[in-house]
Amino acid sequence: MGMENHVKERYSEGATKVVEALCCPVSYDAGLLKILPNEIIDRDYGCGDPSSYVKKGDTVLDLGSGGGKICYMAAQLVGEGGRIIGVDMNDDMLALARKYQAEIAKKLGEDRVVFHKGRIQDLALSLDRVSQYLKENPVSDLKSADAFEVWMAAQRVDTPMIADESVDLVISNCVLNLVDDAMKWHLVEEIFRVVKPGGRVAISDIVSDVLVPDELKTDPELWSGCISGAFVESEFIEMFSSVGFTAVAFDNWDEKPWKVVDDIEFRSVTLTACKPLSSVHEEQIDQGHGVIYRGPMAVVEDELGNIFPAGVRIAVSQQVFERLGMAPFAEQFIRLAPKSPPHPTFFTASPGTVRHPTETRGGDALLNNAGGCGPSSGCC
Ligand SMILES: C[S@@+](CC[C@H](N)C(=O)[O-])C[C@H]1O[C@@H](n2cnc3c(N)ncnc32)[C@H](O)[C@@H]1O
Repeated sequence: MGMENHVKERYSEGATKVVEALCCPVSYDAGLLKILPNEIIDRDYGCGDPSSYVKKGDTVLDLGSGGGKICYMAAQLVGEGGRIIGVDMNDDMLALARKYQAEIAKKLGEDRVVFHKGRIQDLALSLDRVSQYLKENPVSDLKSADAFEVWMAAQRVDTPMIADESVDLVISNCVLNLVDDAMKWHLVEEIFRVVKPGGRVAISDIVSDVLVPDELKTDPELWSGCISGAFVESEFIEMFSSVGFTAVAFDNWDEKPWKVVDDIEFRSVTLTACKPLSSVHEEQIDQGHGVIYRGPMAVVEDELGNIFPAGVRIAVSQQVFERLGMAPFAEQFIRLAPKSPPHPTFFTASPGTVRHPTETRGGDALLNNAGGCGPSSGCC
């Protein structure tokens, strides 16, 4: 469990009183705070505002929902029919968040929020259900321990707490850094699993500018204080790209570090990314599409290894062609539709293959048609 017990103790204290050391100044939309009780507003342990990425109608998952502040802000933004799911492993934080659920549902005219007890690195397993199981089936010997293992494995497959591809937007505010380093890859894979194709993530968290040494990582105070478990900034982007997200970016990167410890800067960032609509297999089918990167860089490269030198017609799959027609790419690319789509063939050329002008001449040239990243239009 590594630091998990320290994290639990620290946030149990943070749920029952305001712990100043855990607070990183953030300015939230005051209009969205109006319906929240002070008890929740005061226990703010976030470092950014991922609620600003929520759209009408979204199903939103908040990882490490704490006292529920971001969930209740998001509940106002999704509107009628939208859904918010908060996940936290701490009983005291969950009790604080759930305490006001009925009151806020009444103000909204609808109960749009649900809180689950779970670990964010294991989104398939509900710890509420684990507690119930253990009450009814205490583990006292190897036989009952085996039965418990089998039951948990079945739960993850048959009735996962968060189902595959069920969420439009995953948000989180200052939590991913608290997950053990050994589980961070799994955590990012879990996030990818639960996002719908075309869905998005917006994660506010703390990153370090250089690698954090072990003597800081093993300090429980620094770890549970959202410092020494921070991702290194380059690794944060790389992990999200590696599991399959596209358009991975630091949408916010605080100029001023939140803390400097042993000459290492720890700052708040917000990472945004999209889950592609199609599989890697579909991404490789050539139907004659082309794009021109306008510049001003000499060359840019995407997560799939596609290389776009400025001003050069490059062969791309239909999926990449469509993705580059949406925000945030649309303004950077001129898109050239095929004259008449050839029979689909697999790419044999390496990324960066030039598309000859005659292959697209007579087809549509699509300029600047920014699409937006909404839940219905899909993103990427
Ligand atoms: C720094 S607080 C942030 C709370 C909230 N997001 C906010 O903006 O105030 C971290 C929260 O994440 C929870 N947490 C930490 N590690 C977790 C894990 N592995 N799984 C689930 N929750 C976790 C803690 O219990 C705590 O409520």
